[in-house]
Amino acid sequence: MIFRQLFDPVSCTYTYLLASRRGGEALIIDPVLERVDRYLQLIEELDLRLVKAVDTHLHADHITGLGALRDRTRCITVMGEQSGVDVVSMRVRDGERLEIEGMTLGVVYTPGHTDDSYCFTLPDRVFTGDTLLIRGTGRTDFQNGDPRAQYDSIFNRLLRLPDETLVYPAHDYKGDTVSTIGEERAHNPRLQVRSVEEYVDLMNGLKLANPKMMDVAVPANMRQGLDQEEVARRGWAVGAEEAMALLGRRDAVLVDLRERGERERHGAIPGALHVSYQDLQESIRPGGVLHELASATGRRLVFYCAFGERSAMAVQAAQDAGLAAAAHLQGGIAAWKKAGGPLA
Ligand SMILES: [Fe+2]
Repeated sequence: MIFRQLFDPVSCTYTYLLASRRGGEALIIDPVLERVDRYLQLIEELDLRLVKAVDTHLHADHITGLGALRDRTRCITVMGEQSGVDVVSMRVRDGERLEIEGMTLGVVYTPGHTDDSYCFTLPDRVFTGDTLLIRGTGRTDFQNGDPRAQYDSIFNRLLRLPDETLVYPAHDYKGDTVSTIGEERAHNPRLQVRSVEEYVDLMNGLKLANPKMMDVAVPANMRQGLDQEEVARRGWAVGAEEAMALLGRRDAVLVDLRERGERERHGAIPGALHVSYQDLQESIRPGGVLHELASATGRRLVFYCAFGERSAMAVQAAQDAGLAAAAHLQGGIAAWKKAGGPLA
């Protein structure tokens, strides 16, 4: 496994780069905007292909690198389903799996620091975001934070992991880099409480100043979404009603770019072809399935995904590959459902 812990000294944020092998797919957790060049350089040096960028929660102390990484690598951006952030192209929820080639992360919903906080697990380690820090816990006094929920997330979820599980947090302000679940249970001062009430009192009594970047970072992090309007201006977008009129037509084919879990959970458009976004490049180059389908039969490719982010990037890639008739369903399956489109 390739595992890198990267540090942003301005916000004291840890960012994690993961891959199963050199030359393979990579995933990044909690990237910081100002460090994006460094991440991309490292990704290139290690011969990796970034396919997913994940934030553990909406950050208040730095601007996320998710939007910039998406623009520069066309990777999928991932957050929990509770997040109101528009940059997210794939939403996950508790109990699901987050996959890249050769690696599967568990998804654990751990509200408390914020109501959109998630932790991600590998068999020997857990990425705890700001839920559990080394000898600390994330504050619960803004962004819909809730000390009671955090107590539950820590005591009933994280501390049930094996004692030797490595703990990799999103921040450290003292220079520590890693801990374990057993060590935190025994020595984290915030966890030496006898009841949830005691924890709530402890957290409510902290009286911390707001993070310096909060007024800048929160609004900026809310709006990192891809500009789907720009794709539409070029004539590459269809609305849900227009897409419905394409059903059953022989001159167009709808292409579902989502992963299997997403299709099972939210349903799919009847008759759509499935090519996961990760396999897109392969299939739109000459000789690829979609390239042949579009060029040999003259059928128009209409991509769709969850919210229109991945499909908007797919249209751009298809146009680059010479498939001039390609388009996408603006707003994705979410817009389709809202318009009453049928689901299989
Ligand atoms: Fe945070």
